[in-house]
Amino acid sequence: MKSGMMIPALLDLVISMSVQAAPKESFLRPDKVPAPSSNQMTPERVELGKALFFDPRLSGSNWISCTTCHNPALGWSDGLPTAIGHGMKILGRATPTILNTAYQRKQMWDGRFRTLEEQALGPIAADVEMNQNLDNVVAELKEITGYHAMFEKAYPGEGISKDTIAKAIASFERTVVSSDAAFDRWIKGDEKAMSDYAKKGFALFEGKANCTACHQGFNFIDDGFHNLGLKGNQDAGRHAQVPVAVMMGAFKTPTLRDVALTAPYMHNGMYKTLDEVVAHYNRGGDVKENLDPNLKPLNLTEQEQKDIVEFLKALTGEPMMVTVPHLPQ
Ligand code: HEC
Ligand code: HEC
Repeated sequence: MKSGMMIPALLDLVISMSVQAAPKESFLRPDKVPAPSSNQMTPERVELGKALFFDPRLSGSNWISCTTCHNPALGWSDGLPTAIGHGMKILGRATPTILNTAYQRKQMWDGRFRTLEEQALGPIAADVEMNQNLDNVVAELKEITGYHAMFEKAYPGEGISKDTIAKAIASFERTVVSSDAAFDRWIKGDEKAMSDYAKKGFALFEGKANCTACHQGFNFIDDGFHNLGLKGNQDAGRHAQVPVAVMMGAFKTPTLRDVALTAPYMHNGMYKTLDEVVAHYNRGGDVKENLDPNLKPLNLTEQEQKDIVEFLKALTGEPMMVTVPHLPQ
């Protein structure tokens, strides 16, 4: 690998060739969920954001809400290979979970939004998703009396606007965080919390299988983009945002939290099971053109691959209890 490759990608491609195991503490939950100073979380903001997240009146058809695709009962995703949007159109990419998006520095498979506030209006306006004109959303919400008081309590004096809609939705999303899983109890010292298979799987994850080159820390991400050599991929991915050669076909490293709940996998939903994903890594990817330098054949035994899957399952905690809000009238 030429060392010059590291610079032009503007830190998008986080290359770490070290296979040294990270200290267990590096996987501990951060003390608090990060929120911007311009939009600190309050119970009123979260409650408003939750109502908006569940409200199909935000869509052009009054039929699609954020939860249509980010369904709490399906790991905040949709269980589909790729999303189905307005007019039942099948979209090109899989619906990622919104779990732990608060901890990400880039949103979307190609990282085209930085903050949850920036992201929130995108799907409402996208003709293929919720197909609604943003000025219409503001006008329609103003006609729903119940929302007036909610906006006033959440953002006193700011009114119902695109800005307050986005900020409220982002505040709700910051409450959608993973719960403690078997893995968390184990890193905090409960030896019995994880099976021996899962412990071996974690050792491989950090060692021979080199997964921590990209899936790092509490949320198992690196805020970077990588081409994994997926067979048949035609999507340019990050290259559309950062047009340097190494970003062609590169996608954002997704969280592995609650990953047992969010099949199918990858930006195009091409793998139905975690076993298929691990087998992909074991082959070192399929398409070698522009492949990330950290993907190499791993020569894992069948049992070792199963152990890694056991470890991935140990990253799944109790699902968050979500009550469907009463929508304001
Ligand atoms: C039609 C299905 C659909 C609807 C409705 C929808 N989304 Fe999404 N969402 C997706 C897909 C697909 C992506 C990934 C698209 C991409 O990367 O290009 C995504 C990405 C996201 C992400 C980025 C997650 C990450 O890890 O990068 C967030 C946050 C999000 N959506 C929130 C919302 C909110 C808020 C709403 C409602 C205002 C909403 N979505 C409505 C399908 C949907
Ligand atoms: C070079 C960086 C890199 C390495 C090394 C890596 N991953 Fe990934 N991982 C990614 C990226 C990027 C994606 C999404 C790729 C896409 O959709 O095109 C991903 C996707 C996944 C997914 C699917 C998640 C989902 O929600 O769709 C799983 C599971 C996963 N990786 C586990 C692993 C395991 C286990 C290892 C080690 C055997 C590993 N990864 C090694 C970067 C990496």
